[in-house]
Amino acid sequence: MTTQGTRPEAETAGLMFPTRFVWGAATSAYQIEGAITADGRGRSIWDTFCSQDGRIVGGDTAETAIDHYNRYREDVKLMADLGLTAYRFSVSWPRIQPDGSGAYNAKGLDFYKRLVDELLSYGIDPWLTLYHWDLPQALEDAGGWPARDTSKRFADFAAAVHAELGDRVRNWSTVNEPWCSAFLGYASGEHAPGRREPAAALRAAHHLNLAHGLAVQAMRAQNADSQIGGCVNLYPVTPATGSEADQDAARRIDGLQNRFFLDALLKGSYPEDVLADLSHLSDMEFIQDGDLATIAAPLDMLLINYYSRFTVSGAPGGAASAAAAPTDSGSPWIGSEHVGFVNGGRPVTSMGWEIDDSGLQEMLRRIAEEYPRIPLYISENGAAYDDAIGEDGAVHDPDRVAYIDAHLRTCHTAIESGIPLQGYFAWSLMDNFEWAWGYGKRFGLVYVDYETQARTMKSSALWYADTIRHGGLLG
Ligand code: NOJ
Repeated sequence: MTTQGTRPEAETAGLMFPTRFVWGAATSAYQIEGAITADGRGRSIWDTFCSQDGRIVGGDTAETAIDHYNRYREDVKLMADLGLTAYRFSVSWPRIQPDGSGAYNAKGLDFYKRLVDELLSYGIDPWLTLYHWDLPQALEDAGGWPARDTSKRFADFAAAVHAELGDRVRNWSTVNEPWCSAFLGYASGEHAPGRREPAAALRAAHHLNLAHGLAVQAMRAQNADSQIGGCVNLYPVTPATGSEADQDAARRIDGLQNRFFLDALLKGSYPEDVLADLSHLSDMEFIQDGDLATIAAPLDMLLINYYSRFTVSGAPGGAASAAAAPTDSGSPWIGSEHVGFVNGGRPVTSMGWEIDDSGLQEMLRRIAEEYPRIPLYISENGAAYDDAIGEDGAVHDPDRVAYIDAHLRTCHTAIESGIPLQGYFAWSLMDNFEWAWGYGKRFGLVYVDYETQARTMKSSALWYADTIRHGGLLG
């Protein structure tokens, strides 16, 4: 066992965080595990998507990814060297239940038991995400997220995983970033399964919310002492000018990106204006009586993924995806395709995403005001840069240090002002498979050589380790 969380009393200079603040890093199964045919794993929608021409930049696939399935012990050791107090990871549904319904695969579950036991042996708290986008292909063949039955299949899966791992995992989250699964997966087609069917995307969004609620119920029914949360990706949205058109554009994008999910999970309703924006696409007959009460099952925490801010304009000119699709695609902004995304003039990361820590402050304050009392965690925050091993054998990434430092300062200000923010997970622990962008975008604190699978801590990892050891930001 290590002694994370304890630090010498005298060492308190700088911006100190609460003693119990959770210092973490995050990954997801599909982005790191590889071993896609090992030990009885079934096929996922991302396996299919990667095998299709033109879907992933450079034709990259996640067949090997960063081989975490075979190297998890080495990776947990890295986490311990960093001093992480928590590690957020996801389980692969097709590894545990190859067809998404019916038989479970003991070998798949065993992998996560071994991983969790390894984490616990170093005193690192496992934070388990049940769904990070790798739907079993068999469920997509049966209709995917636009089909209501997928929500029920997910609740069964959640109950089974919770029954097996609930004794050693305390912190659970359901669906990672439902916005992406619904609108990148079924509207723009930038993500698996690559469908471009706006009305189906709306059904998918509702069924992802329903899956979350049903899974919470199913886990609660097991009476474990689990802390359960939902996970959303939030962006403050600013109108490019004060014009009525731009303000309406901001209302629409904020509605679809933020309020559609926050209101459902935390208030048990969908925003009326968003439903009105979408009414030409669907009569919403798929929202059944009682669904919203299920979706709003009480939560122990809200997990927030934060990367950037959007600036939008209502002027005609067509929408640009915020995720800037690497391949030809439709728009994820269903019902608001006329909205344009405008350059806000801030420096950008290698994703082209504008850096704006004030947006995090704004979001945290808004959540604390509009959805009071729920404990908050930043479950992802980080930046991609074009990192390379230098001649000295080290990876120098001062831009990533500056990015994380700025966002942690914002977190500190939020805590000081009474916002119940209780932890921070850097995205990502290691460089990995960045979905449609393949391996070209490096988000890791740890550099991965994709030829040799060698791991090298970047200077940001060493800096983060110092920050954790200190319990806050120096200076
Ligand atoms: C959010 C997703 O959860 C994660 O999988 C992805 O790699 C990061 N954002 C960066 O795009």
